[in-house]
Amino acid sequence: MIPKKVTLITGASSGIGWETAKLLSARGWSLALTARRKPRLDTLANKLCRKGDECPLVIEADISQPDQARAVVEKTFAHFGRLDVLVNNAGILRMAPFMAIPVSEMRELFETNFWATIETVRAAIPFMEKQGSGHIVQVGSGVSRRGLPFMAAYAASKFALLGLTEGLRMELRPKGITMSLVLPGGTETEMPANLDRSRLPPGYPSHERSRVSAERVARAIGKAVKWKHKEIHVPWWNRPEIWIATLFPSLADRLIRLGYRQALPHHTPNV
Ligand SMILES: NC(=O)c1ccc[n+]([C@@H]2O[C@H](COP(=O)([O-])OP(=O)(O)OC[C@H]3O[C@@H](n4cnc5c(N)ncnc54)[C@H](OP(=O)(O)O)[C@@H]3O)[C@@H](O)[C@H]2O)c1
Repeated sequence: MIPKKVTLITGASSGIGWETAKLLSARGWSLALTARRKPRLDTLANKLCRKGDECPLVIEADISQPDQARAVVEKTFAHFGRLDVLVNNAGILRMAPFMAIPVSEMRELFETNFWATIETVRAAIPFMEKQGSGHIVQVGSGVSRRGLPFMAAYAASKFALLGLTEGLRMELRPKGITMSLVLPGGTETEMPANLDRSRLPPGYPSHERSRVSAERVARAIGKAVKWKHKEIHVPWWNRPEIWIATLFPSLADRLIRLGYRQALPHHTPNV
């Protein structure tokens, strides 16, 4: 019997991770689901259990703790005996004017959005190398390629993920390990819903209407898993926008400042 493919999804207790689990389960993949909120994971795992079929493995972990991040990979491999896909999706968002975010909070952003990924990837490589194959999906953000006001530290953590992924992608290919980076724009999940807006200046644009659904981002992750695309933007038109912003950074600054004009003057009184 051909063994079922195994995917480990971090941050599966809500939003994009939750929808990705549903999608890959429908494709018949074996799943390991991890996050801090175990009751949520249990609910999802129960939903995804099918008669006579195995249920997803639930691993409660705080992946900002290096040993716990490594352990989720080790436990997945110990349970299933293989690891075909690692989806590094867990992440946190903190937004405020740069000087209003304590450095300790910026470090927290990096612990979850970047360093946890270093730990899971380093733990997964030996297993995937032994198998001769494996695929790693990194969930970045549109701000992995273009920073925005009031999210400089978050963007920096997602830029770091981009550099890590591009470098590793070439290094790991000879070992049979491939990598995808999925870059969602604003997505309708708990992340924007739970954001502390009192830390943002008055006039900060809501962006509500431009958000995509978590299902749509999950479909992009599903595509990345199937076709091993190197980079997928959601929605797709973020990609040409980023090309323009890269070619013409001053123009991009001007256009972005225009979009944030009601929020920015409060923080640039001398300009
Ligand atoms: N929503 C957006 O607008 C947007 C846009 C671009 C990129 N993204 C990225 O997409 C990814 C998923 O975000 P989402 O929108 O689906 O947000 P979400 O609904 O808030 O989900 C975040 C997930 O990460 C988990 N998580 C956070 N910190 C963790 C920790 N220390 N240890 C273990 N798990 C942790 C959360 O689980 P627990 O709380 O249960 O631990 C949750 O399952 C993130 O990397 C985010 O940066 C989101």
